[in-house]
Amino acid sequence: AIDVGKLRDVTGLITLDPGYKNTGATKSAITFLDGEQGVLRYRGYRIEDLSKKATFLEVSYLLIYGELPNQAEYDKFTREITLHTLVHEDIKKILAGFPSNAHPMGVLSSLICSLSAFYPDSLNPNQSEEEVNLSIVRLMAKMPTFAAWAMKNKVGHPVNYPDNTLDYCSNLLKMMFALPAEKYEVDPIVATALDKLLILHADHEQNCSTSTVRMVGSSQASIYASISAGINALWGPLHGGANQSVIEMLEAIKADGGDAKKYLDKAKDKNDSFRLMGFGHRVYKNFDPRAKIIKQAADEVLGRLGVSDPVLDIAKELEHAALNDQYFIDRKLYPNVDFYSGIIYRALGIPTDMFTVMFALGRLPGWIAQWKEMREQKEPIGRPRQIYVGAGERDYVFINKR
Ligand code: ACO
Repeated sequence: AIDVGKLRDVTGLITLDPGYKNTGATKSAITFLDGEQGVLRYRGYRIEDLSKKATFLEVSYLLIYGELPNQAEYDKFTREITLHTLVHEDIKKILAGFPSNAHPMGVLSSLICSLSAFYPDSLNPNQSEEEVNLSIVRLMAKMPTFAAWAMKNKVGHPVNYPDNTLDYCSNLLKMMFALPAEKYEVDPIVATALDKLLILHADHEQNCSTSTVRMVGSSQASIYASISAGINALWGPLHGGANQSVIEMLEAIKADGGDAKKYLDKAKDKNDSFRLMGFGHRVYKNFDPRAKIIKQAADEVLGRLGVSDPVLDIAKELEHAALNDQYFIDRKLYPNVDFYSGIIYRALGIPTDMFTVMFALGRLPGWIAQWKEMREQKEPIGRPRQIYVGAGERDYVFINKR
């Protein structure tokens, strides 16, 4: 029964939906997803087609500007991004201020936010379309440089400057992996796999980080501040941090003797809180279409690179056992995109705490597109309500009387 006395401070009718599980915050023309049918489309194009046929920059253009670019538009977009890959030298001073064990996600979000200081025009909410486009190009161009530098800071190596003769992913890989004393050749298999991974992560409608970007942007904060906020939201283990948790779980299984079956049983035990990381999805209850594509890519990459890694062997064993286990079949628990992306990143030699940074690089065009749509739709400032459950009105009591 409702205690009417306790409701005296409620003002008007409010819908309570913690986690916004059934509350739409916007109308959007960017991404369609159907969790029951396992469908994901960007601007109407199937993810299966885009990941097979398009490049990440083509998909980025599609998400941000609404249509696939023609050759001239694509060349212009790519050229502009290439021209802006360098970052201001003073950014190295900011990087130098971080401890060497700083998590790369914290470094990345700080460096992205610092762009508001280097480009103060971005603080003007009434920027022209041309100025907004310049900020978009800067973000797309500089984020790989920041990501690679955040990794170099962590491993204690000198940073590499961008190589504008290379494509987007090859440049990123070179900045991440080249060492001053060694010749570095980008492996095309690795660059292609990375391009595909970025496409698969490019947008996923109103998830936690995307809603954050729109929410922060709705206060007319700069695009750099809004994207930086999205990076922080992505950092959490319940969101983008899940791919890191997958590898940590596999390493723990290996340290415990490598018995995948034992952990499968643990995950099924209702008296044990352990869950198989990288299995199940809140929205996809049939299958995650991205996981299907990425599984194939993982098989290809592992096969062609000839990687031999006991942790990846455990992953294969776990995947096989779970796909054939009645508990997982009954509950429609399939390996999700994070399961396979973690495996590929590890096979590519990317350090575990860089996994979420790689996710952020992929999600960037989606965040930009959603920020731009929010701005163009002139959405009101995001301001949820609450149901107040605290104390009723009280009289102040002086400290010596409490
Ligand atoms: N291992 C073992 N059992 C599981 C798992 C799992 N990974 N996931 C769900 N279950 C079981 C639950 O115990 C429950 O069983 P019951 O019906 O007997 O009680 C049933 O499956 C349904 O689970 P829910 O928690 O109700 O499913 P929900 O949709 O709320 O959760 C989630 C989805 C959070 C992804 C969950 O599957 C999970 O915790 N997975 C592991 C973490 C993970 O991989 N997260 C990444 C998600 S993908 C992404 O963020 C891009």
